[in-house]
Amino acid sequence: MKSSQQSPLFSSFKLGPYTLNNRIIMAPLTRSRASDEQVPQPMMLTYYEQRASAGLIISEASQVSAQGAGYANTPGIYNDEQIIAWKQITDAVHDKGGRIFLQLWHVGRISKPELQPNNATPVAPSAIKPAGDYITPRALELEEINSIINDFRLAAENAKKAGFDGVEIHAANGYLLDQFLRDSTNHRGDSYGGSIANRARLTLEVTKAVVEVWGSDKVGIRLSPINPFNDISDSNPEALFTYVIEQLNPLNLAYLHMVEMAMTPPIDDSPVFDVASLKKLYQGVYMANGGYNKTTAIDVIENEPVELVSFGELYIANLDLPARFRNNAPLNPVDESTKYGGNEKGYIDYPALV
Ligand SMILES: Cc1cc2nc3c(=O)[nH]c(=O)nc-3n(C[C@H](O)[C@H](O)[C@H](O)COP(=O)(O)O)c2cc1C
Repeated sequence: MKSSQQSPLFSSFKLGPYTLNNRIIMAPLTRSRASDEQVPQPMMLTYYEQRASAGLIISEASQVSAQGAGYANTPGIYNDEQIIAWKQITDAVHDKGGRIFLQLWHVGRISKPELQPNNATPVAPSAIKPAGDYITPRALELEEINSIINDFRLAAENAKKAGFDGVEIHAANGYLLDQFLRDSTNHRGDSYGGSIANRARLTLEVTKAVVEVWGSDKVGIRLSPINPFNDISDSNPEALFTYVIEQLNPLNLAYLHMVEMAMTPPIDDSPVFDVASLKKLYQGVYMANGGYNKTTAIDVIENEPVELVSFGELYIANLDLPARFRNNAPLNPVDESTKYGGNEKGYIDYPALV
């Protein structure tokens, strides 16, 4: 019997122009340690540098514009100060032999006036309030949609200046692109709403704009077809995401990053389906995410059309996750109180293996 140390999980992998050292990927993790001006802080350099042994790091979600922010102290990628700070981080990861992509983010309606420039009302495909402590957003005018696409394009250019190896488009978890995809949040009557093709238009146009900047082999995209997080649902998610994947196939992206889980309980009686069908449909590199551990990651990589597996929670407290997996070492528990926001405690002080 093959020992788990020989699993392809630990073997190198050719991703676009890069050779990843292993297939253990650090999932994007918002940790809210940027400055009040949304600029990465020096402790973030240490945090990412510590995790450089991942096959690939996907950065925490980073807003493509000031309007794209929905939480305090998340980093941006829309001004020079942010680019300079990110460049120091990417240099540090590269010096350690790692690779790092930036996750491009616009939160849409998951924001508040106090987080918006000039206390503006957050924007969305339609004026539909999310459940919880949010206000009703303002529906984007048709003319504004081009400027959103342009914000993603400029942010992609900025990510290049900041030395990233590529970018991931955040089309998951109930944020702006997902809000356009789903018919619970998109009631538009123009070419960006209504039919599945219309609802998918913005995600695909953003993807094509970002591909123009980076080349398709350095762009990934993240989807979460069965995740109701941020109060999102769809009347037929299987048809919707089947269409999206059929449209993504010819783009030959670096990878499709699939959040296969629901992070919150289902909304009403909205339909659920088995995302395994999408995994088979996608023709390129498939990165699986959602509740994986070493055993289940080895299993899907060996037995399913899955090339890469990303880990979120495990990367918070285990900066040397590949070494821990390889050595069957115990995993550090996460300190829940320091997940989002705060200082270096519970951020860069988790112990490495000795
Ligand atoms: C603290 C925390 C922050 C997160 N931030 C992001 C984020 O910025 N972008 C994103 O796409 N997903 C984010 N996620 C979701 C994770 O990337 C991942 O999909 C989720 O934790 C499930 O994977 P896991 O079971 O390996 O943790 C976050 C999750 C956690 C726990």
